[in-house]
Amino acid sequence: MMTMNYKMIKIKTISNQDSSYGELSFFEGEKDIPFAIKRVYFIYETQKGMHRGFHAHKQNWQLLFCPYGKIDIILDSGSERETVSLDDPSKGLLLHPGLWREMIWRQDSSVLCVVASEYYNPKEYICNYRDYLRYLHEKKQVDGLESCAGEGP
Ligand code: TYD
Repeated sequence: MMTMNYKMIKIKTISNQDSSYGELSFFEGEKDIPFAIKRVYFIYETQKGMHRGFHAHKQNWQLLFCPYGKIDIILDSGSERETVSLDDPSKGLLLHPGLWREMIWRQDSSVLCVVASEYYNPKEYICNYRDYLRYLHEKKQVDGLESCAGEGP
């Protein structure tokens, strides 16, 4: 089974002495995150209790962050399940391809922002958990064959 391939990153943030001036956070593709950004999308006008996601990506790397509110991200590797809370704008969740994810909105109007390494392509989505387990199983077999091919007699 695959490992929990994710990492929390601290998004760089510039604060001001004068709190009425707000905060500014930023990151740059291929510098602060390990991919070039091809796509950005965001989910907003949301309600507490909303669930989304329920899919995995075969190729897409993503950085998820929540500039307003609180959203729990449930990650599933086929054998383990972990929950990560995006409850601060400076928290970034870097997801490698291949992890199943579900999202639960914990506060009204929370905003989920996603930057992605790939253009939108429905073919690289796995939208059914049973298909996901099958995909992991097949991937494991292919990866196993590839590593054997390199060994030789
Ligand atoms: P989807 O990824 O299925 O969101 P969720 O799994 O959270 O419900 O996307 C919802 C709809 O938006 C779906 O019809 C595909 C479309 N969509 C795009 O056209 N481009 C995009 O970049 C994304 C993320 C979604």
